[in-house]
Amino acid sequence: ELKVNAAKTVAEIQPTMYGIFFEDINFAADGGLYAEKVKNRSFEFELPKMGWIEPNSDRHSFNKNSGIARIIQFQDTTGNHNFARITVNDASGYKLINEGYRGMGIKKDAEYRLSVEVAQPKGIEKIHFKLIDEDGEVIGETSISPDSEQWKTYESVFTATETAEKAKLQVTFEGNGDIDLDMISLFPVDTWKGRKNGLRKDLVQLLADMDPGFLRFPGGCIVEGRTLAKRYQWKKTVGPVEDRELLVNRWNTEFSHRLTPDYYQSFGLGYYEYFQLAEDIGAEPLPILGVGIACQFNTGELVPMDELDPYVQDAIDLIQFANGPVDSKWGKIRAEMGHPEPFGLEYIGIGNEQWGPEYIERFKVFQKAIQEKYPDITIVSGSGPFPEGDYFDYGWEQLKKLNAEIIDEHYYKPPKWFRENATRYDDYDRNGPKVFAGEYAAQSVGIASPENKNNWETALSEAAFMTGLERNADVVYMTSYAPLMAHKDAWQWTPDLIWFDNLKSYGTPNYYVQKLFANNKGTDLVSVTENGKPLTGQQDLYASAVRDEKNNQLIVKLVNTSKKEMEVELKLKGVKPGSKGDLIVLKDDDLSAENSLENRKNISPEVKSLEIDGRELELELEPYSVNVVKINIK
Ligand code: AHR
Repeated sequence: ELKVNAAKTVAEIQPTMYGIFFEDINFAADGGLYAEKVKNRSFEFELPKMGWIEPNSDRHSFNKNSGIARIIQFQDTTGNHNFARITVNDASGYKLINEGYRGMGIKKDAEYRLSVEVAQPKGIEKIHFKLIDEDGEVIGETSISPDSEQWKTYESVFTATETAEKAKLQVTFEGNGDIDLDMISLFPVDTWKGRKNGLRKDLVQLLADMDPGFLRFPGGCIVEGRTLAKRYQWKKTVGPVEDRELLVNRWNTEFSHRLTPDYYQSFGLGYYEYFQLAEDIGAEPLPILGVGIACQFNTGELVPMDELDPYVQDAIDLIQFANGPVDSKWGKIRAEMGHPEPFGLEYIGIGNEQWGPEYIERFKVFQKAIQEKYPDITIVSGSGPFPEGDYFDYGWEQLKKLNAEIIDEHYYKPPKWFRENATRYDDYDRNGPKVFAGEYAAQSVGIASPENKNNWETALSEAAFMTGLERNADVVYMTSYAPLMAHKDAWQWTPDLIWFDNLKSYGTPNYYVQKLFANNKGTDLVSVTENGKPLTGQQDLYASAVRDEKNNQLIVKLVNTSKKEMEVELKLKGVKPGSKGDLIVLKDDDLSAENSLENRKNISPEVKSLEIDGRELELELEPYSVNVVKINIK
């Protein structure tokens, strides 16, 4: 028998309680959320022709072959330094083909926008663009006729005639001679909110459906960079898309389980787009900035203390970019990009997974500068990557002394750890900093092991643990699963919340757990007890309960981690007899069960109606199940 007291608020549930952690890992941005189909569209990768194939060209017999693309490099003030000078010797033979991000996902009857920058057409009258499927068939085509010596952007919208998961874009020419090309780009017209050259609709929809309290971006380790020179610099990701200087991704081959030597950041999804995405999905933006330490799992390079100023200035300027008036330096850039209204930034994170005195010393400088200039901004600090050990204790101790507001903790642990640690926050200091459980995920095999699965055991164990996060909502203010997304052919880390290929996507069982908690976070924590004690895994039963003042509901979450059915009787205080409600169940009797691109909703919630007699509710919790009871209370 469990007692639920809907009448008494124990703590407020923060609107930011359940959020999203986004990092450009596993092709989550380029090749994923950012809907661009052409890889290395502006020939800026370290190997400038990476992603491009010239089947009939041979650089060793230049005079005899059908033509060649040479990369011309120049220095200017923008980030776009290269273009391709194409020499066509034999128009019928020369082809330039882009392979896309593990192919290009093309949908029958969908419209696509081709755009290209062209200059100096000498002897070339027309450029043809064809989408070629896996069998070599043309499934969409268009062409443009260059008419200017100067750089000019040409656009054409065309409709695909067939579907292909791994199409390629072929470029051919009419005439013989030279022509300069840059920013060869192909987007679906149908993007999220119809934004021109925007984000992949199905993927954003999965995020929006979670009703996330915040969007943390852009990572993760990519914030810090392998070296300081290769760190993420937000200022290089705003302004005209063609001028953004790309960067090798920290998750490029060398640091990944998979071969991804072609992993670069085009920054088509840059800071403006992140703020816009957060706004679109109703999430608080939570940017994380580097603290002046390169990733401590790589070089750990430190910026000397007397050279820290530009890093701190980046944080100050970012707040102005997000919130400043349109006549301020950075507010003006935001306005020019199409958003004169402020983005309403309230949080900023300093440092990802950094630890030791080096972190604290630098963090202090950021904290002072931000608090002086923007006292209303909440600063999120980090405790390092491991939720235990000397560094962790040191970090917390020091940050407490600095009156840190919210501390980010990360844990990638076995499923059992999650089941056994639902009490983790029960003893945290109620008067100290608040917690951001910023990255966590149950690892079925080992941390980031390529063998990891998003199976039901991991999701069920996370659900059990999450009742503990919720029960401690007076201390835990923000939480997010990590990583968020993975391309099935180009990942570096498992498990991940959402998987996709070039056409489709699906939420894992872990996704449905996150979504269930986030959609039912309520506004006020209330108590659920057995013999006066909270349920933290006794007889494999975990529970938490909230009241939702907006919808007048009592919401009880019950997780049965045993293989047996469990009878539970809820005694409900503060609920009118005869109330109606719903029971949402997420379950599988096989702990190894998963969702997949072929069986996307294998494990997904089922809803049943409930009628409550008197003030009691008898439930039979199914084996291995997450149950959300929603009762209308007024
Ligand atoms: O989520 C994957 C990585 O795990 C993040 O980039 C990093 O912060 C953590 O180590």
